[in-house]
Amino acid sequence: MNENIVALLNKDLEGEHAAIIQYLVHAYAMGEGEMACEIEAITREEMRHLDWLAEAIVGLGGAPSLTRGDMRTGGDSVSDWMGNDVLQEEDAIALYEGHIKAVDDPKIKRLLERILSDERSHRGDFQHFVDKAKKEGAKDLRGPRQDNVTKILNWGIEHEYTVVLQYLFHSYMTTNEDVKREMEDQAINEMQHLGWLSEEMVDGGGTPRIEHTEPDQSIKTADMLRADIKIEKQVAAEYDRAAKEVDDPGLERLLGRIRDHELYHIDVFNDLLKKEEQEA
Ligand SMILES: [Fe+2]
Ligand SMILES: [Fe+2]
Ligand SMILES: [Fe+2]
Repeated sequence: MNENIVALLNKDLEGEHAAIIQYLVHAYAMGEGEMACEIEAITREEMRHLDWLAEAIVGLGGAPSLTRGDMRTGGDSVSDWMGNDVLQEEDAIALYEGHIKAVDDPKIKRLLERILSDERSHRGDFQHFVDKAKKEGAKDLRGPRQDNVTKILNWGIEHEYTVVLQYLFHSYMTTNEDVKREMEDQAINEMQHLGWLSEEMVDGGGTPRIEHTEPDQSIKTADMLRADIKIEKQVAAEYDRAAKEVDDPGLERLLGRIRDHELYHIDVFNDLLKKEEQEA
């Protein structure tokens, strides 16, 4: 394993992780609108970068880092936030430029150059958003609400963020192709849950807190699946209880829908575990 290249790619990956969360915080806080949609599209490109970097790291015999790099979440106006996003892109550009020079492997070099060209384009997009936010008077739509509902929503957000990281990690580390595909798929589904809960929070006058707890980092596929089933069982029960607790019928439906997805995940993971145990 080339430990130097793995360490350097993990730095890049941590930067992508930070950019994803920083941009999502901004997009959710702005509510539905053209600019928020464009920021979410940029975020999806950062997710692809993260995915490519993680696969490259595993290809070199390493393990992808789950540490998040530094975010810039300050700023008093949407225009300030967009300025922070420009700075985030500039950091990424400088990092990739340095790493392209430091790496000899032509495949890795090519990948980093591919990502670098996206980051340059993102920098231009965010520069444009600095003025656009001013002109359009874009606002922070988050509010100070704090009650049982915002507690439930932030609990859900924390859970969803944790399992996104957990399932991505499992998908990168497993040698079972079926498990890999399913983990990737369900990580995207959990990402959706994270977005729904965050948007619901902003609509309801609260502020999403996008933090996570410690994801399971098992290396053996059967251990991964056991950890995944365990967490799904816990949260399906939590979502079920929360859905019964809330008064707002829209929120009740949302929590019920997420619960149904989690129940589906339990079944899918159980099937995979049975197969994995038979083959072992
Ligand atoms: Fe970027
Ligand atoms: Fe979920
Ligand atoms: Fe789930």
